[in-house]
Amino acid sequence: MHREGPCEPAPERQLFEAILQRRSWRQPFAEKPVPADLLKTLEEEARLEGARLTPVTSPSLQNALAGLVAEADWLLGSNEAVRRESAGWVRATDHAEDGVPGRAMGMSPMEAMLAPVTHRVFNYGDTRASRDRSLACTAPLVFALSTEGDEPENWVACGQAAQRVLLGAVAQGLQGSFLNPPVQLPELRNRLKTLLDIEIWPQVLVRIGYPTGSARPTPRRPLADVLQS
Ligand SMILES: Cc1cc2nc3c(=O)[nH]c(=O)nc-3n(C[C@H](O)[C@H](O)[C@H](O)COP(=O)(O)O)c2cc1C
Repeated sequence: MHREGPCEPAPERQLFEAILQRRSWRQPFAEKPVPADLLKTLEEEARLEGARLTPVTSPSLQNALAGLVAEADWLLGSNEAVRRESAGWVRATDHAEDGVPGRAMGMSPMEAMLAPVTHRVFNYGDTRASRDRSLACTAPLVFALSTEGDEPENWVACGQAAQRVLLGAVAQGLQGSFLNPPVQLPELRNRLKTLLDIEIWPQVLVRIGYPTGSARPTPRRPLADVLQS
């Protein structure tokens, strides 16, 4: 008889095995819907961590949400301080110890080489707004993960929920990416609440679907840099 070890309950093993397959997929998805029973499973995964998954259920709402993402992109991209902070995380190549290589954002090798500078200097609001609007409009499923409170413990709970939800999707062959700019701006975050008809705090906005290829992994810091024994 097969017995499960105490640290590896069967449902979580599937999520564990999905860790190395998960990547942010910032390209369009295949035109294939997310199965309704998978959505139910993902709602449950979020609930297990104390967060709520609110799916966008109509095309008109999805369009309005895409407009909100574009507006937030535009506002953030035109803000010099935001650009400086975000440029600090952009990397020219994959040979880095952390950050996001330009190619993971869909740039050519030449654009990626210049990205740490161009990202800081040029207003990328329009470009990003039109890209994200299209990604948000065409995604098979967009949802928010929200929490009752907006304190550090809620942020941790939501991070754990995002982990479960994304890995649950990856275990079924899907990928996801974040559309988080509206959450970063208090006024737009309030409008996001109104659009989604929720009283609680949206923490992350995510699109998921079936990828049309495979994405390369992004750099990670050495384990010893982030985990003290
Ligand atoms: C809370 C949170 C918000 C994020 N928001 C965005 C976002 O708005 N746009 C984006 O392109 N990536 C966003 N990311 C994704 C990170 O950039 C990405 O996870 C990181 O670069 C590692 O790449 P990977 O997901 O492919 O492993 C977000 C990640 C987290 C955890």
